[in-house]
Amino acid sequence: MSAREQWGTRTGFVLATIGSAVGLGNIWRFAYVAGDNGGGVFLIVYLAFILLIGLPLVIAELSMGRRAQGDAVAAFSVTAPGDTGRWRLAGWLAVLGAALILSYYAVIAGWALGYGVGAATGTLWTAAAAGYGGYFRAFIGGGVEPVLWQAAMLAAAALVVAGGVQGGIERVNRWLMPTLAAIIVGLAIYAVSLPGSGAGVRFLLAPDWSAFGRPEVYAAALGQAFFSLGVGMAVFATYGSYLPRGFALPASAAAIVAGDTLFAVVAGLAIFPAVFAFGLDPAAGPELAFITLPQIFLAMPGGRIVGTLFFLLLTAAALTSMVSLLEVPVAVAIRRLGATRRTATVAATAAIFLLGLPSALGFGLLAHIRIGGYGILDAVDAAVSNLLLPAGGLAIALFVGWRIERAVALREADLGGTRAGAVWLWLLRVAVPTAIALILLRSALA
Ligand code: TRP
Repeated sequence: MSAREQWGTRTGFVLATIGSAVGLGNIWRFAYVAGDNGGGVFLIVYLAFILLIGLPLVIAELSMGRRAQGDAVAAFSVTAPGDTGRWRLAGWLAVLGAALILSYYAVIAGWALGYGVGAATGTLWTAAAAGYGGYFRAFIGGGVEPVLWQAAMLAAAALVVAGGVQGGIERVNRWLMPTLAAIIVGLAIYAVSLPGSGAGVRFLLAPDWSAFGRPEVYAAALGQAFFSLGVGMAVFATYGSYLPRGFALPASAAAIVAGDTLFAVVAGLAIFPAVFAFGLDPAAGPELAFITLPQIFLAMPGGRIVGTLFFLLLTAAALTSMVSLLEVPVAVAIRRLGATRRTATVAATAAIFLLGLPSALGFGLLAHIRIGGYGILDAVDAAVSNLLLPAGGLAIALFVGWRIERAVALREADLGGTRAGAVWLWLLRVAVPTAIALILLRSALA
């Protein structure tokens, strides 16, 4: 077997992990979850979870991957990569989870692409005479069209992954991520400068303390923290496996977490000021980006350019996250089935496309199927963020915190002999499992 692939540079690795973290979760999902859960209060709870739960888990997941120098399953090996411990089951579940997330994530990414193309060619601005509510529902319910966009996004992700760790993943992230950061900052500056935008800034940044008593805010914040960081499904373990030793993990993890959080907050500053400036509802739910925002773009000066930039940004951010999710099963297939990267990519992409078909068709052909009151895509999304991701995070915390020897865990995370290391391990051992268990329990009882 040839030598395992590796990242070319530290910057390339950090940008690829930020590319994984920054996606639909930071823009589409963050905006509607924050909007539904009271804005400023949500943000405070969210930041606390990111720092106390997210950061320790990102460090742990990266260290598992680098230690194993193998795929997601190897990351859960107790002794040497290749042993047959029961923990490896958690690795396999993470691989299935990553595939499941990608299956419906690709559908929403496809909507973003469809809107982006429509915005650039102008059809988005002329075809919606009857309002964007009807436009959106006709678009996502439109027979094969959503399937074509879903397939296009998956094909794009496959093209990048087939290019390899350095030649594909690292290369694309190196130029896309700085570009996306520039676009979102530009959009936020524009939104904040609109007359009447102050209420939107206050909505996001000024907490209404009474909402702290609402337990559902905590569950929503934890689910969003996991989803937005992209922790718990072995993506960071897989990306970490391409690291040589000597990259300090805590500093990389801090950069990832800070980058992801900053991106979400700036995206909020691009969205809420505009929503308030136009007197619309910040709690519109998942449709915020696809119904509320286009209405604003249509009405604002320069809105067609702003709207085109917004949806292309959303598409590109989604693409780099899709790439990271796809790499998880691809790495497993390369390692365990001896497949070439190209064959592994084609096979995994095809399987994930089929897995996502019900989600893509769930607003049209399969709209009659309801699961617990949800349509198919929303049911899968709820299962993933409320159950699968917290469970994956719990597995990582228990594995690194309790199963691996203390000294090994600390050394592999580049935290041996430090006070920060002691804090990190305590968080992983006690605080993270307790918080996750409480919130899992609550959603089980709700
Ligand atoms: N973090 C990405 C986003 O915010 C999505 C994502 C990438 C993800 N990798 C993940 C979600 C792993 C869950 C698990 O859009």
